[in-house]
Amino acid sequence: MLPQQIKKDVYDVSVQDWAVRDFHGYKTERGATYNSYLIMDKKICLLDTVKAPFAEEFLNNIRKVTNLDKIDYIVINHVEPDHSGAMPLLAKVCPNAKFIITAQGKTEAIQHYGDIFDFMVVKDGDTLNLGKRTLTFATIPMLHWPDSMVTYSAYDKILFSNDAFGQHYATGRRFDDEVEKDILFYEAKKYFANILWIYAKLIGKALTKLGGLDIEMIAPSHGVIWRTYLKEILERYQSWGSGEKDGSVVIAYDSMWGGTEMLARAISSGIASRGAEVKLFKMSNTPNSTVIAELFSASAFLAGSPTLNNGIFPSMAALLTYIKGLQPGDKKAAAFGTFGWAGGAKKDMEELLTKAGLNVAEGYTCNWRPQTAEIEAAEKFGYEFAADIIKK
Ligand code: FEO
Repeated sequence: MLPQQIKKDVYDVSVQDWAVRDFHGYKTERGATYNSYLIMDKKICLLDTVKAPFAEEFLNNIRKVTNLDKIDYIVINHVEPDHSGAMPLLAKVCPNAKFIITAQGKTEAIQHYGDIFDFMVVKDGDTLNLGKRTLTFATIPMLHWPDSMVTYSAYDKILFSNDAFGQHYATGRRFDDEVEKDILFYEAKKYFANILWIYAKLIGKALTKLGGLDIEMIAPSHGVIWRTYLKEILERYQSWGSGEKDGSVVIAYDSMWGGTEMLARAISSGIASRGAEVKLFKMSNTPNSTVIAELFSASAFLAGSPTLNNGIFPSMAALLTYIKGLQPGDKKAAAFGTFGWAGGAKKDMEELLTKAGLNVAEGYTCNWRPQTAEIEAAEKFGYEFAADIIKK
């Protein structure tokens, strides 16, 4: 069967990675897709490639539409290997294709795969005529790597957005209006939070740059294509980029013998009694990326750890290191937990929370296992903590 046309003569030659559950530390419970599009015009142009293990399947998708030696151009919007993995094979089987790429992308591609490509370097605003269509390239550095760009086809009114507007979501459906909307927007938010959050301040500038374009469809390189909820996803990106908060509190903790868990539950009860939404995650059974999806829009964060060997519990160290990398910025935070003969976890957590750029407030600890008075004190701590973060 021919690959699906998303518009006349624009074929979806993507591959679905149904089985992947870990994408460089991001747990992909719904799998992922590596999207690529083939434009059949006077000149034939492929936009992006796929992860290396899927290269043969990808070539077979393309062969159903055209011979590989007929491809004139291969646009490399971004060199991260989930999109560039098939480049070396394409260099062999598409002898007449030029690889369209930014100067930064060229450097990265040579570092990854060797100097084996026939490159055509483009810069911001450059165009490429294919016949009926002219493609325009717009650079969006750091969304997601320094090389990143998007490609716009005015003829089709399609923005080929690469990582931007993506979702890690494998599905047999290819359009936004063919899947469950709540799941789609959750996955889009989770993707933004885990992949783009650290660069969120650049989103507004990128949206302004793309704002003048007449867009009917956004075709990202992960997940489904936006055609019905275009306005909504653009508005969400604007809001996510501006760091809007929803008044909720995220608590992430782990526990050795139940004491820190008792505190987590008591603190959550105190927060809830203040009227704030609270979400509780135990890190021995929760992926970091799931917490990030919720922390992203939360107003405050509480980290709980028992002291193990004079320091932080390993699962909490992993989470806080992950959070530090994303630099969540302006949110209230505090640490809590239990300790036996020596503390240490609270100090470790506070250091990591500070390095993450969070506004660290005084936390709460207790010795060994909380008793009735300490449970009450933890409830009060949660109640007081939530006082200034409730959404007005
Ligand atoms: Fe989907 Fe930054 O790669």
